[in-house]
Amino acid sequence: MTLPFDGAISRFYESEAPQDVREAIARADKDDILDPAYPYDTEMRGKHYDAEMDALQIELVKLQAWVRDTGARVAVVFEGRDAAGKGGTIKRIRENLNPRLARVVALPKPSEREAREWYFQRYISQLPAGGEIVLFDRSWYNRAVVEHVFGFCTPEEREKFFRQLPSFEQMLADEGIHLVKLWLNVGRAEQLRRFLKREADPLKQWKLSRIDVEGLKLWDAYSDAIAETFERSHFDYAPWTVIRSDDKKRARLAAIRTILSGLDYAGKDRAAAHAPDPDIAGGPSIWHG
Ligand code: ADP
Ligand code: AMP
Ligand code: MLT
Repeated sequence: MTLPFDGAISRFYESEAPQDVREAIARADKDDILDPAYPYDTEMRGKHYDAEMDALQIELVKLQAWVRDTGARVAVVFEGRDAAGKGGTIKRIRENLNPRLARVVALPKPSEREAREWYFQRYISQLPAGGEIVLFDRSWYNRAVVEHVFGFCTPEEREKFFRQLPSFEQMLADEGIHLVKLWLNVGRAEQLRRFLKREADPLKQWKLSRIDVEGLKLWDAYSDAIAETFERSHFDYAPWTVIRSDDKKRARLAAIRTILSGLDYAGKDRAAAHAPDPDIAGGPSIWHG
């Protein structure tokens, strides 16, 4: 299969990427973390990660049983730039769960009819019923960031979105739906390193899209849109948790711990499901563009 943007990531890396980004990638060893401000220098060791992940997956199975038995409704929103690790984190969460109870919602761009609906409508119909966990791989926050950056919505439509958002999420909270909002944050060099890997890997090329390629040039526009999104959507009834995701392994553990530690499911092992590493997960104040 030939992709229309074949080689576009390498071309960007070689000729257009900011010099510090290019240098960080060029001199890095495989397990080096590229963001100099990251609290660790190297990726977490595999053995250590596997042991923690195994323990957390057991907790997720308990969470699933609790959700099923009590009829609880859990919605987790995964947001973040392209290649932040949303898909990989969702995959680990789902690994040992029943796909009927723990469902992924990854909506494509709105259809012609959906474009004529109330913006929130197609997301509402995907919300969990009692006994379900829904994992949103991207969400209604598309309007706040990617749609804005690419001009897929008008400024008026985006304003209306932000105007309606507090009431919308307040209604979810009021309704008793447990909403967890996770923002996976990836640095510029790490994002480009992941794109280069995807471009070279026949098993991963499908993940690259026109949005990823054209988005390379829009880093700062994304940063502005993300900063504004935190300003306007970090509600006490629906707060964001930012996960520093330059290290995928630490990010996955922190994401799962954020979900587990906010829910009071039966049989919780607090030694495994403790609060996430505060250097990795926190409020929007730990975010930087
Ligand atoms: P993903 O990151 O999920 O692999 P993309 O990077 O291709 O997918 O696209 C990012 C998001 O932008 C997706 O949620 C997609 O539905 C949305 N999107 C792409 N094109 C449009 C469009 N023309 N209008 C609205 N949303 C769009
Ligand atoms: P913090 O998580 O405290 O670092 O907040 C980061 C940003 O979110 C700031 O711009 C705050 O104004 C905004 N913010 C914090 N708490 C709320 C809230 N309850 N409702 C709306 N915005 C908030
Ligand atoms: C991932 O790494 O799975 C991403 O967050 C999804 C993407 O590339 O858009």
